[in-house]
Amino acid sequence: MTASTVLADCRALVLFGATGDLARRMLWPSLFALDCDNLLPENFQLLGAATSALSDEEFVAKVREAILQSANAKLFDESRFGAFAGRIGYVSVDVMKSGGMAPVQNALRPGAGGVIYYLSTAPRLFEPICLALRDAGLADEESRLIIEKPIGSGLESAQSVNAAIAAAFKENQVFRIDHYLGKEAVQNLLALRFANAIFEPLWNANAIEQVQITVAETVGVEGRWGYYDATGALRDMVQSHLLQLLCLVAMEPPASFTQSAVRNEKVKVLWSLRPITAANVATHTVRGQYSTGVSGGKSVPGYLQESGAVADSDTETFVALRAEVDNWRWAGVPFYLRTGKRMAQRSSEIVIQFKPAPYNIFAGVGATLTPNALLIKLQPDEMITLTLMHKVPGLDGVKMAPVPLNLTVGEAFVESRRRIAYERMLLDVLRDNSALFVRRDEVEAAWQWIDGIIDAWRATDMKARTYPAGSWGPSTSFALTERNGHSWRE
Ligand code: BG6
Repeated sequence: MTASTVLADCRALVLFGATGDLARRMLWPSLFALDCDNLLPENFQLLGAATSALSDEEFVAKVREAILQSANAKLFDESRFGAFAGRIGYVSVDVMKSGGMAPVQNALRPGAGGVIYYLSTAPRLFEPICLALRDAGLADEESRLIIEKPIGSGLESAQSVNAAIAAAFKENQVFRIDHYLGKEAVQNLLALRFANAIFEPLWNANAIEQVQITVAETVGVEGRWGYYDATGALRDMVQSHLLQLLCLVAMEPPASFTQSAVRNEKVKVLWSLRPITAANVATHTVRGQYSTGVSGGKSVPGYLQESGAVADSDTETFVALRAEVDNWRWAGVPFYLRTGKRMAQRSSEIVIQFKPAPYNIFAGVGATLTPNALLIKLQPDEMITLTLMHKVPGLDGVKMAPVPLNLTVGEAFVESRRRIAYERMLLDVLRDNSALFVRRDEVEAAWQWIDGIIDAWRATDMKARTYPAGSWGPSTSFALTERNGHSWRE
């Protein structure tokens, strides 16, 4: 199946978890933006489903409020919203009750075309909702399922969620979201690698010394201590977003930009990850937990002082690790991954560090050389920088300095509006294009590797080291790279 730009035949979207945080911050504002751009099918119905008892009017008022408080508020005007509101309805559902799908069934307007079911609910509801949709006859051939992370909390539970999904929907009807894949800058990674010929000859262990992938957040656990504590940074961020980024950096060129070709190459990377075991977990991984500190100029509580916290939790809010991709292209190249809450800066970036020049002909005249690096900044700003050695102008001997060659995406494409990642993801579902969604085997391969690390942490009783909020993590994270003569780019 190839990626299409034509809207598939869909008549409605049912959003489970319609009053939740994600729906409010991202999904309703994204749907509104698509409607403003005339990208929703004609007569397309939007049905919110959640547990609270609300009238259609009360619900529409909540959607209005959500859009006004979102990044898409600037698109708002009353007549546009009036047209959008005309599409919206609401049903109160109890999916755990037998016959619980009846309100959805009754509220869906009959007509041609499939229905998209979006599960933006607590993960424990994924299985019951899929089975209830099947039992109510709502999961027909034309329908589609969008499902948020986390799919399980380990390989076994992921397999069980995937089995429930498969009992109701075929794999080509399923769209598993990793919202990082909807970010413009992440998609641009594919363009950078596969729309430019100059990088490919260098994109391997002959020319690349190491790769760093950092996703640093300044926020703490944002009022969801209970969920976070049962999850931790490895499951919350590495299993999904960081491994997806690693796949995009490390994958072979796909034969085409189609869903099977792209996902086949990504899953091969996951299969090639060398397992981290009890024998090397101490040298290959670092666990951290933030203590009190200063973030954005304000004192902030430590993880164990956050509201709802349990005093003796050892859950990691920071993880750094060294991954190795065992294949011909990458043998011997460390991929350092790092992510954490309450870090010094919000910054997501990928650094491709090239090998040093084989021989420095300027050594005799006192010039030192710094290896080239390609820096891909994903957020908060999108930027691509290649550092090149440049002669410092002047007559004072031969001096060299690294000079950045910058592409600031915001400046190169001034006209384009910065879109919420979910706008792209929702549109891709409408177009039946799942290239940027995660396939069942990818989710399971990622969990298999992550489970190995968690088992090794348990087997060696590896504790989280504290780091002050507002820092770059525990000092052992610096030792992780220095052990190989490398250092994190700050
Ligand atoms: C989510 C995680 O998947 O991604 C959160 O569950 C995290 O803990 C968020 O804060 C980060 O997303 P973004 O788009 O703000 O980088």
